[in-house]
Amino acid sequence: MEKEIKVASPGRINLLGEHVDYNDGFVLPAAIDKCIYLSLKANGSNNRCTIKSRGFDSILVANLNALGQGTEGWHNYVLGVLSEISQISDNLKGFDCEIESKVPVGSGVSSSAALECGLAFGLNELFNLGLDKWQLIKLSQRAEHNFVGTKCGIMDQFASVMGKERHLMFLDCTSLGFKYIPVQIEPYRLLLINTNVSHNLATGEYNVRRKQCEDGLAIVHKKLGIEKSFRNVTMDMLDASKKLLGKTLYNRCSYVVEENARVLQAVEALNKNDLTQLGRLMYQTHEGLSTKYDVSCPELDFLVNFSKDENDVLGARMMGGGFGGCTINIIHNDKIDAFVRQLSVAYEEEFNIKLSYFQTVPSKGTSIMKME
Ligand code: GLA
Repeated sequence: MEKEIKVASPGRINLLGEHVDYNDGFVLPAAIDKCIYLSLKANGSNNRCTIKSRGFDSILVANLNALGQGTEGWHNYVLGVLSEISQISDNLKGFDCEIESKVPVGSGVSSSAALECGLAFGLNELFNLGLDKWQLIKLSQRAEHNFVGTKCGIMDQFASVMGKERHLMFLDCTSLGFKYIPVQIEPYRLLLINTNVSHNLATGEYNVRRKQCEDGLAIVHKKLGIEKSFRNVTMDMLDASKKLLGKTLYNRCSYVVEENARVLQAVEALNKNDLTQLGRLMYQTHEGLSTKYDVSCPELDFLVNFSKDENDVLGARMMGGGFGGCTINIIHNDKIDAFVRQLSVAYEEEFNIKLSYFQTVPSKGTSIMKME
């Protein structure tokens, strides 16, 4: 009988360090307790693959010898992974896969990385490809670059694969060195509040932001002769280059420099268990993302502003790529119900949209569930 495996691959949160993974920055993500589940088995064919998604109620049939762009959104994540694996291994063969997702799509918790990494992880196991975790992370990122077209950083794929229960990860996106940081926030909780909007700007604008930061960095590098990395850029340098940068690039770059500094402060705050300071930093990040990096939207701003009046919310900010999706909140356990009730009413009154929300805890990364 063909071997069958089941993989659980989680979405992710990010406490601080937004839009800096592709800007030589530091991030503080964790895998969450919501996963995409993939059942995989070899089907005896050399190159025929079928991938069935329960959520989308459709089947993708792929030929490993002729991998082209897909016709539905989720197809390209799958096809991209198959294409990237085919380029580094000759051992991939035909398989049948069934996918069931518990990770909300378009919510900023990276269901896409969960899918890519889960598939890569499962195929690695099924066909004994011998790829290590970093190879799986990087090929999943390349799938997104080359097939989906989003020039994403490494954070999402990293968090999905490397997640650990009750720990955040402090990742240096330049060296790829990382540390697990235990999270002790009782009686507070991590609450994700979903705007339930996902403005379709996301992919295009993401790549635009990335290009703007590259352009800004090139200008500072040329003017001041520094090494081309945001790690070497200070606010003084940006001020000295302000005219050349112009308003937009100055704003983008100053957000990056400030956010990188904030992550280091957040790590200090976590080490001291200073949740108040952590919350303050989250609000600052939101402000920067909204006014300087320009990736928020009225719905996200509304949620964050509302929480500022509630003392039991220590911090709140938009999370992920932006233009919709979730905010991440640190909130006192006793206040969650009352807060969400009030907020839902206000939000619906303002936008005529229903909120949804869920608590989460840092959880383990992509793993095999069952072997037969
Ligand atoms: C998306 C990308 C990540 C990261 C975040 C913003 O989730 O996939 O690489 O850039 O946006 O922090």
